Amino acid sequence: MSEMEQNRLVSQNINESTEGAEAASGGEFQVEQTLRPQHLDEYIGQDSVREKISLFMKAARQRGDALDHVLLAGPPGLGKTTLAQIIAREMGTQIHIVTGPTVEKKGDLAAVLTNLQPGDVLFIDEIHRLHMAIEEVLYGAMEDFKLDLIIGQGPSARTLRIDLPRFTLVGATTRTGLLSSPLRGRFGVEMRLDFYNASELTKIVTRSAKLLNVEIDPDGALEIAKRARGTPRIANRLIRRVRDYAQVKFKSISGFSIDSMTANEALNLFEIDSRGLDSMDRKLLTTMIEKFDGGPVGIETLSSVLSEERDTIEEVYEPFLVQEGFLQRTPRGRVAANLAYTHLGFPLKTLL
Ligand code: ADE
Repeated sequence: MSEMEQNRLVSQNINESTEGAEAASGGEFQVEQTLRPQHLDEYIGQDSVREKISLFMKAARQRGDALDHVLLAGPPGLGKTTLAQIIAREMGTQIHIVTGPTVEKKGDLAAVLTNLQPGDVLFIDEIHRLHMAIEEVLYGAMEDFKLDLIIGQGPSARTLRIDLPRFTLVGATTRTGLLSSPLRGRFGVEMRLDFYNASELTKIVTRSAKLLNVEIDPDGALEIAKRARGTPRIANRLIRRVRDYAQVKFKSISGFSIDSMTANEALNLFEIDSRGLDSMDRKLLTTMIEKFDGGPVGIETLSSVLSEERDTIEEVYEPFLVQEGFLQRTPRGRVAANLAYTHLGFPLKTLL
């Protein structure tokens, strides 16, 4: 593996994570990183996950052992990477971050595994997208902390068994259903992150505003929270965009506190509606209603009509729309719910 590949794959330092590139870039990425909570007691929401993780870490620390492997599932932007970073920090170890589809060769994974120190966290994002052959390397590493390498080719090939330190694999997935059962079964802990409620997101927005040196009043924070699709990453992006709006509109934001009216004006300008739907959410629902009579419509058809990847629709857009009751997934396809009709101003379908 070249040095460049290694840099892409391995982030030795907790402050150099490469995750979140789809959500932010350049300076924005740095800002996103500074908004992440560093310790479990700063982490807002996901109470039962926090409680369990805290207990398992305490038990592992008491035994002087590495934490068991943890699988974190849930839609993007809810804090899976943040939790993995917190685990490493609180266990006093290093985190190494790789993303499933970027691990192309067994040797890439072997290089990461052989660099681990006892107790280190290996974070594999999008673990459901690991190539099968690579996944198989993980089985022995996870279960027996052994790595079997084949050296050479043909009749002279031989296997080399390398002992690995006891480490913690933290796998993140947006789709538990796509994980193979041998891999899923090797995690000692499996936890699901859920969308955040408005009160939790209000606390997150208020905390982030403070870190960004932006003043916001409780109603302003609530307005952003209600329109953040239950997702801290989106809430943290919206607070920065609302700040931009306030700064330009009022020439400066020093001494100015963002209130609900300012937040509302800004979010309307950014086409984020009162329920937090963005233009793509609305396009998806409108297409279903106008072109397919509300469905059922197959995901492949939707994907081609919207020119959007099937995975993106399933992993990014649908979970929130389903949770909020705008969309239903049925065995025959996707169906727009009554709420989608009323919210978007379409007359309800009448039963014949
Ligand atoms: N920033 C992003 N996610 C967060 C969380 N769960 N708690 C506090 N701040 C956050």
